[in-house]
Order: sequence, then structure tokens, then C-alpha cells
Amino acid sequence: MTITVDLENAAALLSKASRTVASCGAGISAESGIATFRDAGGLWDRIDPIAVGTPAGLVNTLKQNAAVLLPLFLELLDSFEQASPNPGHRALADLEAMGILTTVITQNVDNLHQEAGNTDVIEVHGNLFRMKCLACETVSTYDRKQLIGETRKRLTSLTAFTLDALTALVPKCPACGFISRPDVVMFSEAVQDLPRAFEVSGNCDVMLVLGTSGVVYPAASFPLEAKRAGARVIVINPTENAFSSITDLYIPMKTGEALPAIVDLIRKNGP
Ligand code: OAD
Repeated sequence: MTITVDLENAAALLSKASRTVASCGAGISAESGIATFRDAGGLWDRIDPIAVGTPAGLVNTLKQNAAVLLPLFLELLDSFEQASPNPGHRALADLEAMGILTTVITQNVDNLHQEAGNTDVIEVHGNLFRMKCLACETVSTYDRKQLIGETRKRLTSLTAFTLDALTALVPKCPACGFISRPDVVMFSEAVQDLPRAFEVSGNCDVMLVLGTSGVVYPAASFPLEAKRAGARVIVINPTENAFSSITDLYIPMKTGEALPAIVDLIRKNGP
């Protein structure tokens, strides 16, 4: 089966759907300039996830040699600042506006789905631009570019990059003034909004599985739950992922190319 036919088949399936859910991973933001984790040259190729991906590992690394993280930290600030929604994100917003897609479940913390226009986004791994107070648990939301700009300003005025300095980079809780942390999920921490993510997965008619390797649980369970409940599963990813045994339609393309093409076909072919 050629890719052209797969795109046509995906458009045909989606044009009949009204409860599509997209389950997304880092790959959908790759074309926005944000590195994935497990592709060659990805984040986990460059830095040990145990050393920075768990709260204890990160604190330990920062205590031992915080400066080693500074170049990567600055690079990540730049890529998150310069990113904007790409054609893949925008096509998901189009699918919502067309009454085809209801919900995006994302493992990404970059806020790009909301910025593209999707209104129901379940962020199972949190959001980098939301802070949670360690004392009163107040959650505060910040503008992505403004927060990064202010963080960089504070960072450049530091004399040393240490654990204390890093804590000082994060805005204090506006409610009680105590220390906040980014409201993101690290390894060993509880995933956010899990019951709702399972509920929408179990109620969808089509699940789009976009730009994820499918190796991190529980997020990798959502396509399995959708399939178990009878949904058709469409995977868009340049390389095959962990879902081949449950995939009805595999499109070996970048999401930023495949999704807009599918939206165009749905528009062209009509309801
Ligand atoms: P991975 O880095 O594991 O996988 C990225 C996937 O995106 C791969 O399957 C790539 O083939 C695919 N990909 C790359 N470029 C793409 C493009 N332009 N279009 C479509 N697909 C593309 O990222 P995730 O599956 O999101 O969690 O990783 C899951 C979790 O592992 C992350 O949320 C993070 C990480 O550790 C935590 O840190 C808790």
C-alpha cells in the first residue's frame, strides 16, 4: 500500500469520526525545533535520564556538578523559546474545529497544542510553564516566552550555577511566597489526569498515535485502551513504534507533513 493511499484511507476514516483522540509524543514537536528523547542525538543520547530525569537524580547531579548541566539548560531554554506550533499541531486544531477530534492527550510539556488552538489537551506529563508551590500547592500558569525571557535574565545575573541558584530561577508562589517547581512529571512521579486520559481513550472512535516511541508507561497504554474498546488506530511516525500489533493504518511520515495532507483531503473530499 502506498503512502498516498494510506493518507486517503486515513482521511476516509477520520471524515466519518466524531470522537477522535490524538495521543502525542515528542515527535510532533520535533518540527518545531524541540529535540525528542530517544531518536539519534535526542536528549537521552546526550544526558543520562537517571541523572536528570528523577527528582533525586537531578538534585544529586546539581549538588555534585551543576555547571555540567548549564550548556544543555541554556540550549533547551533557546529551543523552547523559539518553538512555535508547526503544521502538525495546527492540523490537530483544524480537526477539532471540523468536529472530528475532541481531545489531545500529550506527553509533551511545551504548551504547543494549546497555542495551536486545541481546547481540550490532557497533559499527562505536565506543563513546563506551569509552576506548583511546594508548600501550598497553588498552581500558576505563565506565558512561555515571558517566563523563558525572565529565567534567562535571572540566569545571566548569577555568579554560579548551583542547586540554590537553580531554585532561585523559578518564580516564587504568588499565593504564599514559597518555592515553586515546574509542574512537570519526572520519572518516579505520578502521571497527571490519568483517569480522564483513560476515559477519553476508551470512548474514542479513532485514535491518532503521533510521534511517540510508545515505550513510556502509563502513556503507552492509551492506544491499547482505545484499541481494546474498538477504536481504529492510526499511527503517524517516520519509524515504526511499539504499537505495530494494534495499528490499523501506519503512515511512515512526519506528522507535520502527513496531518495537513490528511486535513486537505478531508476538506477536498467533503463529508
Ligand atoms: P521518544 O523520543 O521516545 O520518541 C519520539 C518518537 O517521535 C519516535 O518514535 C520518532 O520516530 C518520532 N518522530 C521523530 N520525529 C518525528 C516527526 N517529525 N513526526 C512524527 N514522529 C516523529 O519520545 P516520547 O515517546 O514522547 O517522559 O517519549 C515519552 C516520554 O519519555 C517523554 O514524555 C519523557 C521521556 O522520558 C518523561 O520525562 C517522564
